[in-house]
Amino acid sequence: MRRILVTGGEGQVGGELVRRAWPDDVEITAPKRAELDLTDASAIGAYVAAGGFAAIVNPAAYTAVDKAESEVAQAFAVNALAPAALADAARAADIPLVHVSTDYVFRGDASAPYETDAEIDPIGIYGASKAAGEFAVRLGHKRSVIVRTAWVVSARRANFVKTMLRYGAERDLMRVVADQHGARRLRPISPRRSRRSRSG
Ligand SMILES: NC(=O)c1ccc[n+]([C@@H]2O[C@H](COP(=O)([O-])OP(=O)(O)OC[C@H]3O[C@@H](n4cnc5c(N)ncnc54)[C@H](OP(=O)(O)O)[C@@H]3O)[C@@H](O)[C@H]2O)c1
Repeated sequence: MRRILVTGGEGQVGGELVRRAWPDDVEITAPKRAELDLTDASAIGAYVAAGGFAAIVNPAAYTAVDKAESEVAQAFAVNALAPAALADAARAADIPLVHVSTDYVFRGDASAPYETDAEIDPIGIYGASKAAGEFAVRLGHKRSVIVRTAWVVSARRANFVKTMLRYGAERDLMRVVADQHGARRLRPISPRRSRRSRSG
């Protein structure tokens, strides 16, 4: 049996990871905050060392973007120091670490979609803390992958779609920002044939 540690299992991304169908030989372990507080680096190390995990997936985060401006230490504790501790623990156990990050590591004023190697230049505490987490994971553990996502939507917790649905039910007129853009395809997928069909 391969045990995979998923942090933030009560969150939007973590919750979906916990609920999805995994292969029979995969067992997901998703400790609640009370069982593993990610602001406690030594607890992270001990939990991973004792867990016999085959991999770690870390979607847990401090995600209150506006509140982070006045809770700098808390944002950095969860978004930077916890990934650093997970990198240490994963390296010690020689297991891969998948870390979830955000488009907020970028400045956000580009007129074209960001490439993965675009300059990291956050303008707020949340983005800065997530950028610090990325550096800790990328430089701290070779067997790591960073997945940046944006505009997360799920049935649980707060997200843009749920807010719009609520406002739609409450208000006759909605005023919504129109200057934010999510991911879009960089270029159309070319209709060219795949290598296999070309050779075959
Ligand atoms: N939401 C978005 O639109 C968005 C956009 C771009 C990137 N992302 C990234 O995607 C990832 C997942 O986001 P999400 O929206 O799924 O987040 P979320 O719903 O806010 O869930 C965050 C999870 O982290 C856990 N957590 C926070 N602090 C903790 C601590 N000290 N100890 C233990 N657990 C703690 C929370 O635990 P509790 O359940 O106890 O609160 C919660 O389960 C994050 O890395 C985020 O930066 C999200």
